Amino acid sequence: MTLTCVGCGATCSPHQIQTVCRQCGQPLRADYFFTPGQYEPDQLENLPSLWRYSLFLPSINEGHRISLGEGRTPLIEREYLGRRIYLKDETNNPTGSFKDRGMCLALSVGLELGIQQIVLPSAGNAAVSAATYALAGGVVCRVYLPTTIPEAFIQEIKDTGAEVILAGKTIAEAGAAMSRDLDDRWFNVSTLKEPYRVEGKKTMGLEIAEQLGWNFPDVVVYPAGGGTGLIGIWKACQELRSMDWVRKTLPRMVAVQTEGCAPVVKAFLSGEDTTAPWPQPQTSALGLNVPSPLGGAWMLSVLRTSKGTALAIAEKDIPAVQQRLVDISGIPAGPEAAVAWRGLEHLVDENWIKEDETALVVITGDNRRY
Ligand SMILES: Cc1ncc(COP(=O)(O)O)c(C=O)c1O
Ligand SMILES: [Zn+2]
Repeated sequence: MTLTCVGCGATCSPHQIQTVCRQCGQPLRADYFFTPGQYEPDQLENLPSLWRYSLFLPSINEGHRISLGEGRTPLIEREYLGRRIYLKDETNNPTGSFKDRGMCLALSVGLELGIQQIVLPSAGNAAVSAATYALAGGVVCRVYLPTTIPEAFIQEIKDTGAEVILAGKTIAEAGAAMSRDLDDRWFNVSTLKEPYRVEGKKTMGLEIAEQLGWNFPDVVVYPAGGGTGLIGIWKACQELRSMDWVRKTLPRMVAVQTEGCAPVVKAFLSGEDTTAPWPQPQTSALGLNVPSPLGGAWMLSVLRTSKGTALAIAEKDIPAVQQRLVDISGIPAGPEAAVAWRGLEHLVDENWIKEDETALVVITGDNRRY
């Protein structure tokens, strides 16, 4: 495996701790160079966690694999608005969101490379997850959160023994405060500032294909903030294709945001190659309050290469849609998932998702701390 910069193509070693590209500052991607027939599905590990997919992940000594049973989440199926819809229930992870997949990988690789303390800014869920995995891995953790964060997040993070610092109104401002304090002793696990959270999120895509009998849905609808999930699922689809495990056309990837913070949608619709900072971001879907994602260009290239799209939904719709989603699915879905669900409704109304097509919505997290 090699680490390659998604901006300029420079490569660097996976055998030492890496952050972003030293030449251009863009994220690093783990490239494995899989070939058809190199592995077969019966070589997957029989494990109750995402480590089932270790063939697709960086090699890590067993003793450094952290696991709290993340991944292997349910895929449920519904008829909705005349379409077959799949829901990937990521609330079924140890801390209630898909963030656990990414933190599991980032911390496990970190242990392999000898890290002792991690730091990140977060809108909430990533911090709970990082703190929980840091505790499991015996690593010190400090998180920077916006002052607007609901109390339940803070309490849960503190219960793990992690240090909480409140700064600014958004994850961007919390991140700026973190950068002022940071020194080399800290392993920075901020979104896309290290290559392995994407690798963990990638397992969502691997699982979806396996649960569909090594097949892809036609469309994947995703509530996009920093972009790791969207990028990870797409990466999984490409890797499965290069192994020749799935023959079908790759899915069209859709990013849904809210009109209160939609930098990806704006850049997509105006044909830009990267995102511009969103002025005065505000949304009740806290995980989507990411005004200037480092992975902006990467997300846009996924949307365009997959022939997908991006759309922003009305902030005022969130509470009613969230209730509708809970009623239909029986999943205690949070507001970010409701944003994706609203996006699905619009795409069906516009017939962008056709009657004979299948769509999958990622229910990224639950509502327990709101
Ligand atoms: C529940 C939930 N959904 C979606 C997102 C957006 O995540 P991503 O970085 O994958 O775009 C977040 C991020 O905080 C989140 O907590
Ligand atoms: Zn670069």
